[in-house]
Amino acid sequence: MSTPVAVARGLNLHLKSGGQPLHILKDVSLELSAGEVTAVVGPSGSGKTSLLMVLSGLEQATAGSVSIGGTEITGMNEDKLAIFRRKNLGILFQNFHLIPSLTALENVALTLEIADPAMPWKTVRDRAAQALADVGLDKRTGHLPSALSGGEQQRVGLARAMVGNPKLLLADEPTGNLDQETGAHVIELMFNLARDRGTSILLITHDPNLSKKADRQLRMNEGHLDAMAAA
Ligand SMILES: Nc1ncnc2c1ncn2[C@@H]1O[C@H](COP(=O)(O)OP(=O)(O)OP(=O)(O)O)[C@@H](O)[C@H]1O
Ligand SMILES: [Mg+2]
Repeated sequence: MSTPVAVARGLNLHLKSGGQPLHILKDVSLELSAGEVTAVVGPSGSGKTSLLMVLSGLEQATAGSVSIGGTEITGMNEDKLAIFRRKNLGILFQNFHLIPSLTALENVALTLEIADPAMPWKTVRDRAAQALADVGLDKRTGHLPSALSGGEQQRVGLARAMVGNPKLLLADEPTGNLDQETGAHVIELMFNLARDRGTSILLITHDPNLSKKADRQLRMNEGHLDAMAAA
């Protein structure tokens, strides 16, 4: 079997909220393979987004380790981690995180520019434009996020997450703001990415129809991550 794209071992996340200690992730271990779509379902507040934050190194686990593409990211310093993330990860956030002062095209282009500062602007622009066309936004490239609908902003987020051909795509509720047709299109794009480019995808979703389409389903429950029994 090929080496997994991501391996997490014994992840625990403790946070404090208003002086109250919270145990958010409880001994979470998982492996994600190339070309595989893994869905994570589970109730609101169970720790799904927290898992994504820890897997991407945006949040440091209290205990446990994460390695991506064979590189241990646990304890890596912030600067190295930022570069590593740009080169290896695509992240689609639950609430978009687009830069408000940049157009759709510039938001997508920025990811490429940071990952590879030597890339010629024409290549950057063409690839960013293509990524936006892939999500059906070729007519919106010059719009600022404030001039886009929620679903359109979500698709810019997806274009930005996919444009660098990441090894691992982490997607938090990618269809949460989309109508059924657009959602189905976005999902098809994501699955094609796994199939055609061998990207490993971790998909957080509340949508049972979507999780059913994944190769594998996991459930987060009060910080525990378990395989779901076959339906
Ligand atoms: N920075 C923080 N400080 C304190 N508590 C936090 C912090 N971030 C998240 N939490 C708490 O951790 C728990 C898990 O949150 P998380 O965002 O991972 O849930 P989720 O499963 O993604 O939920 P949803 O489906 O609503 O997005 C929640 O109880 C939340 O209130
Ligand atoms: Mg969440």
